[in-house]
Amino acid sequence: MKQLISLGLLCVLCCFYSCNKTVQNAKVNSPDGTITVQSGIEDGRIYYTVSKDNTPIIGKSFLGFVLKDGDFHEGFKITDITHSSFSETWEQPWGEEISVDNTYNQMIVSVAESGGLQRKFSVVFRAFDDGIGFRYEFPEQENLKDFVIMDELTEFSLTGNHTAWSFPTYTTEYYEGLYKKTLANELDTVATPLTMKTDKGLYLTIHEANLTDYAAMNLTPIDEISTLKTDLTPWSTGEKVFMKAPGVTPWRTLIIADKPGDLILSRLMLNLNEPCKIEDTSWIKPGRYIGIWWGMHMEKYTWAPGPKHGATTANTMRYIDFAARHGFSGVLVEGWNYGWENDWTREGDKFSFTRPYPDFDMETISRYAAGKNVKLIGHNETGGATINYESQLDSAFAFYNRLGVDVVKTGYVSALLDHKERHSSQYGVRHYRKVIETAARYRIMIDNHEPAMPTGLQRTYPNLMTQEGVRGQEYNAWSADGGNPPEHTTIIPFTRGLAGPMDFTPAIFNFENPVFPNTRPQTTLAKQLAEFVVLYSPLQMAADMIENYENNPAFEFITSCPTNWSKTVVPDAEIGEYVTIARKDRESENWYVGSITNADSRKLSLSLDFLDKGATYRAKIFKDGKGADWKTNPYALDIEEMEVNTDSIIELELVTSGGAAIILTKE
Ligand code: NOJ
Repeated sequence: MKQLISLGLLCVLCCFYSCNKTVQNAKVNSPDGTITVQSGIEDGRIYYTVSKDNTPIIGKSFLGFVLKDGDFHEGFKITDITHSSFSETWEQPWGEEISVDNTYNQMIVSVAESGGLQRKFSVVFRAFDDGIGFRYEFPEQENLKDFVIMDELTEFSLTGNHTAWSFPTYTTEYYEGLYKKTLANELDTVATPLTMKTDKGLYLTIHEANLTDYAAMNLTPIDEISTLKTDLTPWSTGEKVFMKAPGVTPWRTLIIADKPGDLILSRLMLNLNEPCKIEDTSWIKPGRYIGIWWGMHMEKYTWAPGPKHGATTANTMRYIDFAARHGFSGVLVEGWNYGWENDWTREGDKFSFTRPYPDFDMETISRYAAGKNVKLIGHNETGGATINYESQLDSAFAFYNRLGVDVVKTGYVSALLDHKERHSSQYGVRHYRKVIETAARYRIMIDNHEPAMPTGLQRTYPNLMTQEGVRGQEYNAWSADGGNPPEHTTIIPFTRGLAGPMDFTPAIFNFENPVFPNTRPQTTLAKQLAEFVVLYSPLQMAADMIENYENNPAFEFITSCPTNWSKTVVPDAEIGEYVTIARKDRESENWYVGSITNADSRKLSLSLDFLDKGATYRAKIFKDGKGADWKTNPYALDIEEMEVNTDSIIELELVTSGGAAIILTKE
């Protein structure tokens, strides 16, 4: 992001002063003075607290580690406290807005064991106006070189029994869970982002940033009140992290927001990632895509070859024609390569990522796609066999690069990677990073399914476009519980969505399910449209089979909706109930709005005060039609047009699990 920094850097101010003072001085305020982090030592243990407007948000929470060699959390004294400030504005090559403000005050608290080996570490605290981040840094030292973390003890001592949205991490495969609303003291060991609402109406999200060569953070309650402790995903052998000094941990992050919408607008996690490492990002392009995909779930097609093989030359060309006609940049094709004929979730090591099946003429298809200005999106399902995949990465990505394939959807369907390690372990985290870095060298963008939970790495590697790690649309094809319940997409923007773009794959238009007749999208058609805006992904899939889009007037919303934004606002939202998001197109002056509700119908007054003053816009509203109802009449849709301006208020009437999608074209 070198050139982006020079573009976007408005001001950088740094000031440092160091002091060898007492505990009382270990305090840092956010630039606006509202958020305060304090740190100190009690009985030889280092702790921190967080408050906002003098109200405690995180009570005394202890820090430290258990190493294979023994405890590393006791007997400490503070050796140094350093303060500094920083401010910059950087630009995202793609995203929910262009400019990101990164302004914080920093405090580094260095501690060392008073006796014994006198090992040391520092905790770097950053206080932003929208929350805090901190990480451990292990400096080079005599008595700590290669070491093994058996447990990270970082605590988050909640100051109330907050309402929380979570799922249990170890019993939920690939983070594809339904978020349950509970009290904090009822939490299982849960994945982050963990979002909570306090009884004073504040919204808190605990997560992490820049997960590099470390294990993912989960949270586990350690007492009946509400102290949450870090629980790192282990290796199969029980170790958590193999570490070296000098070295750093990922950042532990806490967003503090007055409104749920402000959680969505926080860029704290991105700010705590490293600037872009890809020098030329001109080849990284967001876009809309379709795919030979839902047809497999509906059993019209198969992944493996046979009479219903989906990935045939003729079928792919049909999809390319459709993409070209309707302005989609990519066509995903699954089941094109050898390996699917096996028991692939167990025998992932038999996948070839360079050998197409005979009925998929990749050279011809690539030429055909190029002639129509459409890109093929490659699919690399690994069945969790990362060793096999890594051995083919270079040859596969070189092959795709030669054929003009510049997006690859990766997948890891198998309970464990290489039959052994968890996806979110240090083992998995290392693998995913290798794929992203190798892909960047071959100018390939990644859409990663079955990932470790995202932590904002797209700032450093903007070819990491989007990821799964969410219970997506596919559950509306085959889930035994009937599909995602109506509230699901009103929760995930405030939970999983805060970790980064989600490849949820919205926009199913035909809810008939020949395979599982009782499973379907539990929404209206208008809500499917609105999800295209609400569920952010720079690569956004229109997931249905193309024949289901033909001649449907609702499709106009999908084919006109951008996937790259210059601005995002959240006019109104309540977690698990409803959410309205408005986004401004990067390529024009137009805005797009998505508004969705849970199982409750509701009326919302949408103020258009985000529009330019003095300008007139043509609003085209795709909304639940007369008599619409997700259960009995999901397809009823009205399209209404009107002139609006910044003073206008649009009255939205969302039916049960309904929605509205609006195009605002500047005149
Ligand atoms: C699960 C992924 O989420 C889905 O999108 C994909 O089609 C299958 N795995 C097969 O790779």
